[in-house]
Parts: sequence; structure tokens; C-alpha cells
Amino acid sequence: MNQHIPLFKVAMSKRVDAPLIEVLHSGYIGEGPKVAEFEHKLGAKFNNPYCLALNSGTAGLQLALALLKIKNSGTGRHKVITTPLTCFATTAPILTMGYEIQWADVQRDTLNIDPESIEKLIGLDTAAICLVHWGGYPADLIEIQKIAEKFNVPIIEDGAHTFGATYKGTIIGDCTFTDYCMLSFQAIKFLTTGDGGCLFLKDKTDYELGKLLRWFGIDRNGPRLDMRCLEDIPEAGYKMQMNDIAAMIGLVNLEDVKRNLVKVGENVEAYKAAFSGISGIDLIQMGTDRHSSNWIFTILVEDAIGFARMMGEKSIMVSKVHSRIDNYSCVSDYRSHTLPNLDYVDGRRICFSGDTLIPLVRGKARPIRDLVNKIFFVYSYDLKTDKVVIGKAHSCRLTKKITKLLKVNLSNKFSIKCTEDHLFLLSNGIYKKACDLKNGDSLCSLYRRLYFDRIQVRQIMHNPVPKWQCAYELAESII
Ligand SMILES: Cc1ncc(COP(=O)(O)O)c(C=O)c1O
Repeated sequence: MNQHIPLFKVAMSKRVDAPLIEVLHSGYIGEGPKVAEFEHKLGAKFNNPYCLALNSGTAGLQLALALLKIKNSGTGRHKVITTPLTCFATTAPILTMGYEIQWADVQRDTLNIDPESIEKLIGLDTAAICLVHWGGYPADLIEIQKIAEKFNVPIIEDGAHTFGATYKGTIIGDCTFTDYCMLSFQAIKFLTTGDGGCLFLKDKTDYELGKLLRWFGIDRNGPRLDMRCLEDIPEAGYKMQMNDIAAMIGLVNLEDVKRNLVKVGENVEAYKAAFSGISGIDLIQMGTDRHSSNWIFTILVEDAIGFARMMGEKSIMVSKVHSRIDNYSCVSDYRSHTLPNLDYVDGRRICFSGDTLIPLVRGKARPIRDLVNKIFFVYSYDLKTDKVVIGKAHSCRLTKKITKLLKVNLSNKFSIKCTEDHLFLLSNGIYKKACDLKNGDSLCSLYRRLYFDRIQVRQIMHNPVPKWQCAYELAESII
């Protein structure tokens, strides 16, 4: 099937070309002044000077785990508690760094790691808790920190999705409640450097050692006797550093990211208005003490396969984004207990991009909220003229207004509400087919149509207009 509306787009600034070409021909493209400038700007933005720019977000997790490996040497701490609802990139470094995995369950209403589940697993053999902020929505950091403190366990945040997310007045990345926080600057992230990432650290000593480990263990900034490395290397490290080409891209894109995030926030409000209150669809719960970066907007849908098919028919790409990780054979040793919440959300998850603009069919760029309105249809029946009027949800505001008006809270897939002059029907798109009516059709044909498609309709609020009453009875009679 042709997917016209992509799930993600690359947020590449148009202003990047000239400075990038300058770096390319500067005679220095490795880790140099641009990386230092990028780190400095990130440090200021995230209120954390201990920032290491790296060649990927995955490298950030690997580096944090490598630092802990050194600290934990000989302590018997060899297990990492983590979430199975994530990208394999969260899991891979845990395995490749030689740790054992313990899967914690997720919360049904946020899809984030569940502190209660962590509490059941944590012990003296726990080396770290590695959490993910699903879709950019911050996990319960304070609750997790309290549990971690009891056993003196460090916390690593996989913040691949969280650029700009905040938690209780702090920004994700400042490590107020945790020890390490990775961000990803991979191709489709809010801030991209092409590929890249960074690791924020809480502790200065850790930062100094991390700086060495990201480049073989060699001190790039220390005095050298020779260009080649004659000095001792006490701890062998990795090749994880960012280069000036990626950093230059990051520096230019950084200028736009705030504006993009605001637009994304608006898109997500439109999504929320469009999807909330629809029976069979649950939204991720957003607390007022934190703000998601909204990298993805997730809903839980009863009939996720049918929903995804319907979206596909409309050329809109939706996805689970990440599959559960615990089913892969490389982690088969760690399937120890049941994860009921994960089982629940896994089959229901549908993700939309929180992204700013989507290139639409026929080559036009168009805000995503318009698209939402293409999916949601409001049918109104004019009681005065006795005619059905279709497609009135031109604007998101109208959809929102009508959704509010309808207070759709029933176990039906379809809701109707009567006002003085109009009878409104809201279809959530999945059931749109059932309402394939034309302007001017009679109320009778509407109900006939609903009947044929076995759509249940029910009155939400009483409004004693004779025609409405009659419509309601008709609805009752076909249920
Ligand atoms: C949750 C999560 N963790 C880690 C990563 C890895 O980041 P990177 O691709 O920068 O290595 C990703 C990548 O998309 C991710 O989604």
C-alpha cells in the first residue's frame, strides 16, 4: 500500500548548507571546536554542564553502563532493570556490556516503566535501572528514585524521545532525579545531527572519566609529548565521539527546535481533541506535573489492527513504533515472569507522529490537524429541513466543540446528540463507512444505513424535541 503520510520526517534546517560546507572544507572534520560548541549549548539548554556529545544515543547508554561496570567491579551487581516496551537500542547495550536483564512491567495509562514493578525486582545485585520516557512522556522519576535510593542503585534515562520534556519543573537531561540521561539525535528525532546523541551525567568525576572512555580512554585535551599517544591509557575505552560535521548540523537545527516543539504541542492538542471521549480509544494520561516532548502520540485502540488498516486506506501511516523486546530470542534467558500490563497495551498500541508538518498527498504540505479533521466526520441532521448535512467538521475547533457537546462517554461506537435544530452524529472514522450518506439524505436513510452496518446508536442527552424523540425511538428499534 502507498503510505502517503509518513510517520516521521527529518527536521533539517534549510540554513544548514552554508555552515556545513564551511566545516566540510575547513580541514578539520573530527571532534573539534564545533563539538565543543554544541556541547556547551546543550549544557546551557539542559542546565547541565556535564554533557558528552556522541556518535549515537545508543553509545550514550553504552557509556553510562561502561562507567557503572567500572564502579561496580567486584560488587556482584550485574543486573539491569529495564522496560520491554522500547527500541531494541535500549536493550542491546545492556546485553553487550555483559549485564543480565530484568524486565519490569509498564503502566497501562502511560506506557512507562512501572515503579511498583521495579520495587519487586530490585536488590543488592541490581547494577542500574534503565528507564525510557515513552514517546517523550516522562516516567515517574521521583517514585523510581525513592526505590533506587534504598539499594543505592543508579538510574539511567533513555531519553531518546524526550528532547524538551519537563518533569516537576526540571528538564529531562539535567539529572535532578537520576544519574545519567541519554538523548538521541538520530535522523528522525526532534533534534537531528544526521546520527548522534549525547549523555548527560550528574557527577563531575563520572563526566571526566566518560570523556576519556568515549575516545579509547585517551585524554584528547591533556598535554601531549607527541601527536601520537605516548601517555599511559589506564582504562580502555570506545570510539563514541561526535564529529564536527554532525555537531554543525546539530548547532543549526538547535535554533529551530523550540519553534518546532511548540507546533508539535499544538498538533497534539488537536489529536487529543479528536480522539478523546471515543469509546474503544484510550489516550495516554498526561499529568499536570510534567510535559511530554510529544515525539509520538500514542492511543490504545480496542481494534488496533482494524484502526491501522483504516488509516492505511487513508494513506496515513500509523505504527506501534517499537515492538515489545522481551520476545526476541536473544533475551530468551530473561523471560521469568508475566507482564500483564505489557500484554494489555501491546495489542492496542497505535502511534501517530507528533511532528510539525506532514507532506500530504498531491505534494502539498499541510498541518497534521487538518488531517485529523479528515478522519473525523460530523453528520448533522437539520430538524427544520428534515435533511442530513455532511462534513461539517472543517475545523479542529468545531470537532472539539462537538466532541465536548456530545460528551461521548458511552460504550457505543457511535454517538448522537440533539440540540434545538440539529441532531449531531460523531463518527470516529473507523465507523465512517457506516455513514456514507449524501447531503440531503433523509433521517430514515441514515438509520437504515446504520442498521445495515450493525452500528449501535444511542442518545446521550435528552432534548425533548418531537423529531428527536422519533429518531431516538427509531434508533432503539434497530438496536
Ligand atoms: C527508545 C530509544 N532508545 C534508544 C534509541 C537509540 O538511539 P540512537 O539511534 O541515537 O542510537 C532509540 C532510537 O530511535 C530509541 O527510540
